[in-house]
Amino acid sequence: MKATAIAHSNIALVKYWGKRDVALNLPAAGSLSVTLDGLSTTTTVSFDDSLDGDRLILDGQEITEGRPLDRVVTFLDLIRAEAEVTACATVETSNDFPTAAGLASSASGFAALALAATTAAGLDWSKERLSALARRGSGSAARSLFGGFAEMKPGLRPDGADAHAVPIADADHWDLRCLVALTARGEKKVGSTQGMQRTQATSPFFNPWLATMDDDLTAARQAVENRDFGALAGVAERSCLRMHATAIGADPGVLYWNATTTSLIHAVRHARDEGLPCFFTIDAGPHVKVFCPASSATDVEAMLRDSSGVLDVLVTRPGQGARIIEAR
Ligand code: PMV
Repeated sequence: MKATAIAHSNIALVKYWGKRDVALNLPAAGSLSVTLDGLSTTTTVSFDDSLDGDRLILDGQEITEGRPLDRVVTFLDLIRAEAEVTACATVETSNDFPTAAGLASSASGFAALALAATTAAGLDWSKERLSALARRGSGSAARSLFGGFAEMKPGLRPDGADAHAVPIADADHWDLRCLVALTARGEKKVGSTQGMQRTQATSPFFNPWLATMDDDLTAARQAVENRDFGALAGVAERSCLRMHATAIGADPGVLYWNATTTSLIHAVRHARDEGLPCFFTIDAGPHVKVFCPASSATDVEAMLRDSSGVLDVLVTRPGQGARIIEAR
């Protein structure tokens, strides 16, 4: 009744932004991502009949109230219902990156929790089924079950059973680096769910954005299969900019960027024009993720560290999917 899992964060190259069902957290369209070997969450879940409530211990500190605890309890309820377990659980989770930096901790967090909690509850589910479960915690978490390159399928079924990620290529398929340039400290002000819902409800660009998704997914899939860096750069930058354009078009506009975010977009494009292969992508926050071939990572890191406003640079590469490291 006790299991420990590790899962890594992932960065979308074709972005997810919008839901077809809020209660089941079903995405409005597919997305495509790279799971990273850094930015990991390790989570231990133990069900214990003597507990009278679920406990959450995050980076060594017990969280006794608020949204993070509520999200974990709601998620454990889904697993208890499936496993016919009634016991409460202790969830001990830690990130190897600063949780408060506004990096995507929900992707690695819910992927690790889905795997650790189902295993501790005695369920032996396929990665696809675990991915659909992780989606209930956070849409991007569904992709972190798989290593390397993964594609989220929006599915057609009303119950969401077919809304899960599928693997596209292993971590060793393509020796890329993803450099995360931190441009601010602290949590973002508008969470991704709130940002998406406002965009969907009020942005005139939302439906045109959805209409571009199939072509972008096809282009990204092909670029990954052919290891075509130029093609991947094109589709990833346009997907990122269009996602942010739809959000900026909401009322009131959802703008995640700061001045450093914008100057890094220019810096990356300038470096590429000068012959350094690299492209940027940005999620629901001000940090900039820059992809490049492994052979260019030193030069790209130097370029980012030289840019004014960059607080730190984390260097990551494609990594493995979620996995159990201990169970008893
Ligand atoms: O998984 P969520 O609900 O935090 O949404 C993730 C949204 C983006 O990071 C902006 C895009 C993506 O596909 O990861």
